[in-house]
Amino acid sequence: MHAPLFEWVIENLCKNAVDAMGSSGTIAIKILRGSDHKVFIDISDTGKGIPKALIANVFRPGFTTKKRGWGLGLALAKRIIEMYHEGKIYVKSSDENQGTTFRVELKSA
Ligand SMILES: Nc1ncnc2c1ncn2[C@@H]1O[C@H](COP(=O)(O)OP(=O)(O)OP(=O)(O)O)[C@@H](O)[C@H]1O
Ligand SMILES: [Mg+2]
Repeated sequence: MHAPLFEWVIENLCKNAVDAMGSSGTIAIKILRGSDHKVFIDISDTGKGIPKALIANVFRPGFTTKKRGWGLGLALAKRIIEMYHEGKIYVKSSDENQGTTFRVELKSA
């Protein structure tokens, strides 16, 4: 477990959630226990959502829809989760103008 990098991932998911919501909205973080020693961390927002056709691109380095975005946050998050935590990160669900949930999947001891 690389705690500082893991923290960075969660912070970046929260920053994206804030960016997606404009002036008001709700962020929820849920920690769930799955079968086979799996732990899920779901970060949900009530923001603008990701168009279906773009979901496949969000982890690509350089993909951004923001004026001042680098498109690096999710690409790095994916590397950190896969390389340092042997986990997975993906878009669990997203609906336009309803919101988005990103899931981080980890193995617990
Ligand atoms: N919670 C979200 N709701 C809606 N769209 C999102 C969300 N998270 C990511 N995205 C989309 O995915 C793109 C890529 O996100 P990513 O964090 O990699 O880059 P960025 O936020 O644009 O720039 P930065 O490098 O500063 O993080 C965003 O520009 C946005 O279009
Ligand atoms: Mg970002």
